[in-house]
Amino acid sequence: MTSQEIESTIKALCDEINQHNYNYYMIDNPTISDYDFDQLLNKLIELEKQYPEYALPDSPTQRVGGSVTKQFSTVKHVFPMLSLGNTYSEGELLDFDRRIRDLVNSDFDYVCELKYDGLAISLLYENGILTRAVTRGDGVQGDDVTANVKTIHTIPLKLKGDFPALFEVRGEIIMNHQNFERLNRERDEIGETPFANPRNAASGTLKLQNSAEVAHRGLDFKVYFVMGKQPYASNHYDSLTKLSEWGFRAPDVMIKARSITEVIDFMHDWDIRRKTLPFDIDGIVIKVNDYSMQQQVGSTAKSPRWAIAYKFKAERVPSQLLSVDFQVGRTGIVTPVANLTPVPLGGTIVKRASLHNKDVINAYDIHENDVLFVEKGGEIIPKIVGVDVSKRAFDAQKIRFITRCPECGAELLQSEGEAGTFCPNELHCPPQIKGKLEHFISRKAMNIDSLGEGKVEVLYDNGLLKTPADFYQLNYNQLLGLEKRIPATDEKSERIVSFREKTVENILNGINESKNIGFERVLFAIGIRYVGETTAKKLARHFKNIDNLANASLEELMQVDDVGDRVANSIVDFFMQIENLEMIVRLRESGLQFALREEEAMPLSNILGGKSIVVSGVFSIPRDEMKQLIEKHGGKNVSSISKNTDFVLAGEKMGPEKRKKAENLGIPILSEEDFLAMIK
Ligand code: IVH
Repeated sequence: MTSQEIESTIKALCDEINQHNYNYYMIDNPTISDYDFDQLLNKLIELEKQYPEYALPDSPTQRVGGSVTKQFSTVKHVFPMLSLGNTYSEGELLDFDRRIRDLVNSDFDYVCELKYDGLAISLLYENGILTRAVTRGDGVQGDDVTANVKTIHTIPLKLKGDFPALFEVRGEIIMNHQNFERLNRERDEIGETPFANPRNAASGTLKLQNSAEVAHRGLDFKVYFVMGKQPYASNHYDSLTKLSEWGFRAPDVMIKARSITEVIDFMHDWDIRRKTLPFDIDGIVIKVNDYSMQQQVGSTAKSPRWAIAYKFKAERVPSQLLSVDFQVGRTGIVTPVANLTPVPLGGTIVKRASLHNKDVINAYDIHENDVLFVEKGGEIIPKIVGVDVSKRAFDAQKIRFITRCPECGAELLQSEGEAGTFCPNELHCPPQIKGKLEHFISRKAMNIDSLGEGKVEVLYDNGLLKTPADFYQLNYNQLLGLEKRIPATDEKSERIVSFREKTVENILNGINESKNIGFERVLFAIGIRYVGETTAKKLARHFKNIDNLANASLEELMQVDDVGDRVANSIVDFFMQIENLEMIVRLRESGLQFALREEEAMPLSNILGGKSIVVSGVFSIPRDEMKQLIEKHGGKNVSSISKNTDFVLAGEKMGPEKRKKAENLGIPILSEEDFLAMIK
């Protein structure tokens, strides 16, 4: 083929595929079989691979993704992205209408739309080509997620018709119920935590680094706003309608309303009909239609005065209690969970709901076979929000909280000052052992990512792991061929995933590499109750090695920043348990770091010897690292400015209050450059 032929073949294929995509995704009218479509697409992919110089910026091959973004760049919005005022009450809708009528002395239309429950996106079109897609961020700047957005079929990459040369389209990125459920099933199968709701799933997906995975998950887009200088329409309704001429999918639901009564009818109507939609909405949005009237009514810094969102109250349904399970979590907390007669709620079938804790069971006075009201909050498991006492049988027995752990039989305790009930048998209760093992390998601890949640479970179930020390005794032959059973679902029969050569090699390499992880993180990984990442760091720097820490008295422990009574007692308890001491001996024998390495322990200088320094604002390195630098040069970090402060290290955006206080007390303020020059 000559270069001209290549160019024109690529162009013709793009046009043809774009037309098929349009038929399929925008107007639900496919005219080609899936097989023939894939043939065309593969042909184009091959040609673009061979002749990348001829690939077009609007090529439909971008729909399948494939690019990898290490870090999304932050970009400023051309026009700030405002949000909307919210209300849950009809009375406030009437107030909204009155305020507008006071300003506008003539009849006018509202436009009523659905309030899609996803995340806002701004799409920039330059000469009809999608050039940039940016998340809302803080309204002024957001993340550039263009490659991921290009995989969304309802977002045109190239426009048709008489579009303006430069304009912005705004709308919501959502995930429909079908794709959401498929995604959660897939996550469940590989042992990953499912997303709580479609909004979280959409937002997690849009931030993925691999655009092919974004394409696979299947996001959708709902348009709700157009911005640009050209007067292609005089009102909002016509603008959104016009968009369909340019290749967008016009809103499925949008009406003009002459009065607030019509708006309220629309709202009641959709509060019921939303259950039939294939995606989530959380309310309706009401906008003044005419652009010049919008201008007249104006905006505040945060939101327009010409629009408002009416949010639906969370949907709640009655369902009968079948039984109560008591689940022991990874930290030993026992949660009662109600098994219910299955009911549809918010697009899914609910069979279980959390009863939270003993106090909640008592407060609702729940009895066997009670009819409970269930609501969907932000969590995966819906919650119980009430009881229909009128439906209770006269002889129904009260539900009693268990007194012994259902997993290990230990007597349960009440957490001090909290509503939680917990199993104190930390070291021998199966879910708690698994919890400790998973914590040990987690990213901020030993970071053995070749051993995801699901795999630790398999090793535990096969009797290969009981304490974190066992990780370092695992060998190739033990792991090879281990199997994980994935139970059957409605669509798939049972599957078995087995540990193959490559998986086993990765696991063993990951475990081996973790031996280099520094003492600070090892201390966090061994799982002393209440010792989080930051406390572990402070303890490691203060005591330098595990022996000093293990031998420290309560008083000595409490000298460390942020270590109070509760943490100090927990540390002393930890080192009194023989099992923990044995684990440390074994881990140390396996070569883990139980002391700060020389370069970590050695100060870099004593330039700041004994000086009290307050760090405030944003720096070119994370603030934590700045504080470490101070300590390494002999300085001491203090949190608030007083007359004893030697100087304030001020980054960008230092609070004005702090600055004023330092100036009043005559305390020097150093910039990052001054400081770095000083410690050089
Ligand atoms: S209009 C200047 N219309 O709700 C007005 N927003 O709570 C911009 N949303 O950030 C927003 N559906 O992400 C508008 N039909 C709709 C919407 C909608 C969902 C979201 C949007 C916005 C948030 C405000």
